[in-house]
Amino acid sequence: MFEEYLKMLEKNALIRTIRDRTSARGARTVIGGREYLNFASNDYLGLSAHPALLKAATRALESHGMGSGASRLLGGGSDLHGELEARVASFKGTGAALLMNSGYSANAGIVPAIASEGDAIFSDELNHASLIDGSRLSRAVTHIYRHRDTEHLEELLKNTPARRKIVVTDSVFSMDGDIVSLKGTRSQFKGTPAPFKGIYDLCLEYGAVLYLDDAHATGVLGGGKGSLEHFSLRPEPWIIQMGTFSKALGSFGAFAAGSPDAIEWLINSARSFIYSTAIPACVVAASLEAMEIIDKDTILLERLWNNRERLFSGLKALGFDTGESETPIIPIIMESVPEVLRLSERLAAEGIYAPAIRPPTVKAPRLRLSVTAAHTTEDINALLEALR
Ligand SMILES: Cc1ncc(COP(=O)(O)O)c(C=O)c1O
Repeated sequence: MFEEYLKMLEKNALIRTIRDRTSARGARTVIGGREYLNFASNDYLGLSAHPALLKAATRALESHGMGSGASRLLGGGSDLHGELEARVASFKGTGAALLMNSGYSANAGIVPAIASEGDAIFSDELNHASLIDGSRLSRAVTHIYRHRDTEHLEELLKNTPARRKIVVTDSVFSMDGDIVSLKGTRSQFKGTPAPFKGIYDLCLEYGAVLYLDDAHATGVLGGGKGSLEHFSLRPEPWIIQMGTFSKALGSFGAFAAGSPDAIEWLINSARSFIYSTAIPACVVAASLEAMEIIDKDTILLERLWNNRERLFSGLKALGFDTGESETPIIPIIMESVPEVLRLSERLAAEGIYAPAIRPPTVKAPRLRLSVTAAHTTEDINALLEALR
């Protein structure tokens, strides 16, 4: 049976393979004994190899041991877990926060905790797989709106009777690098784009809960604080923000930030929180250190955005289709799977790691480039030269 499944994938050039690395240092990675310039990492600020994170993790490893031994509710947490939650809550300006084991497990656990039978979920068509899975696990009916189309969302919100309405969305879309339309414009002047309502306004108007996945916005948008800050919006009791430590923060795990009541509800109902062993304290210590760095160090963020501009304008000058990218995630959208595989292989031959992303992960095949603060101007020029 599995042989047949695999043959089908192979026929369509859709077989996925794991390529493990044997070392990591900033923008470089060693795979199969060869060093590559890495344009596939979400380590946006280059923190995963930062000496302060390594030191904090080592210290906690010695003081707290490796495994947590139990779930948080059964005593698997530590003083560091509580410290990180307080830090996240104060960083995000919410009353409370809760650590989750990963972004995937946060979405798979929180969405069913806030939406159930009789409720309606409204989900962007390009939301991350973990939001889709969380929605499926809930017993709510999911209504999919066209990507970033707030008019379509409003139509659905207006015409869908439901006990509770919950809007779930990525804030930075992980395969396209574009940003959710949280805030609308009310401009009525001629010559300006037509006014539209943002998702924040729509949630207010229709009394909906907003669940924001800030996985790629944390540490990147709004001076590192995420998408609400990017749009100068305040956290509200009807908003739950999810963020990850696994991307710009260079560590692992995730958090939910919201009102004390919302967080207490998640502690009592999010199954992926209740029934899973707590994150090891050494990982939590590294995340704490990363929070400290992004709170104080603005240079990394500046470097990230300068690098992003350099790569983006270079790709545009070469005539590539980069979709609607506005962030350090920049796709090169191509016509066919064989074409994108060929480009990825040719870059690999030049010592550049930029894997092809194919259906079913995306509709249109692409190289998904991600640029980080750890890349140098020479690294970016090398990629552009190879693409030329
Ligand atoms: C938008 C989005 N949400 C959630 C996740 C899952 O996060 P994690 O890798 O921490 O499980 C990812 C990462 O792949 C993502 O891109």
